[in-house]
Amino acid sequence: MAQDPKYDLPTYTPTARGLHWLLALLIFIQLPLGFYMSYRGNDMPSVDEKGQPVKGVWDALTGFLYSSHKLIGLIVLALVVWRLLYRLTRGAPRSDPTVPPALTGVSHLVHWALYALLLVVPILGFLAISYGDYLDVFNFRLPAFVDKNEDLSKEIFEWHETGAILIIAFVVLHIAAAIYHRFLRKDRVVERMIPKRVA
Ligand code: HEM
Ligand code: HEM
Repeated sequence: MAQDPKYDLPTYTPTARGLHWLLALLIFIQLPLGFYMSYRGNDMPSVDEKGQPVKGVWDALTGFLYSSHKLIGLIVLALVVWRLLYRLTRGAPRSDPTVPPALTGVSHLVHWALYALLLVVPILGFLAISYGDYLDVFNFRLPAFVDKNEDLSKEIFEWHETGAILIIAFVVLHIAAAIYHRFLRKDRVVERMIPKRVA
């Protein structure tokens, strides 16, 4: 990536930074939304129309949350494909030379694990709703590419949840690393994603 003349170190391009922060924002919304809607639809204690205790509430709000989750998830998938193609063709700015190579290696592993998960988790979500035939997103019906198979759908939802938990684990590691670089090691790694203007 080219050096931006406004900064005194090579930074990610505005496109790479824009995609990074937009995806980070969507992931911060998508994870709690997924857990909450699933709790509301499957586990929240409530009563049915006869006053009998049941688990789960299927009202307009639950439907809205599920549709929002599916829509945001598909937007995440499209943005990740764009971001990956951009990253593979344009590369990244060179690493901060003061960081030991072993640490740079670990950070690259975490980045590529995140890319893989950001690709696989929404694909699993889409496969699960396809096999379960839960293809409605607001008033729109997504195309069905496979025949209905409830058991497979349940199984894929388990993988979808496990993948989402792995995203949380890697994002926690990633943010802890950003804090370490910015406040403990006091190097310039974070400035590559949040450039500080030089006077
Ligand atoms: C990176 C993107 C995504 C993330 C991080 C994510 C995360 C989650 C999480 C944390 C849950 C709750 C798991 C549970 O408690 O069972 C969930 C459930 C769900 N996700 Fe996603 N998801 C993503 C993309 C998608 C996509 C693209 C779709 C479909 C188009 C989708 C459909 C669903 C559905 C239908 C459920 C509910 C499962 C149930 O009620 O048992 N997700 N997701
Ligand atoms: C407060 C939150 C976050 C901070 C402070 C942060 C900070 C950073 C920084 C400084 C880099 C550049 C590191 C380097 O090149 O050495 C980076 C790269 C990256 N971040 Fe984040 N990040 C955050 C959230 C996220 C989230 C939520 C995701 C995805 C779920 C994510 C995914 C990535 C990926 C995949 C890269 C690698 C970029 C590349 O070289 O292709 N980040 N982040």
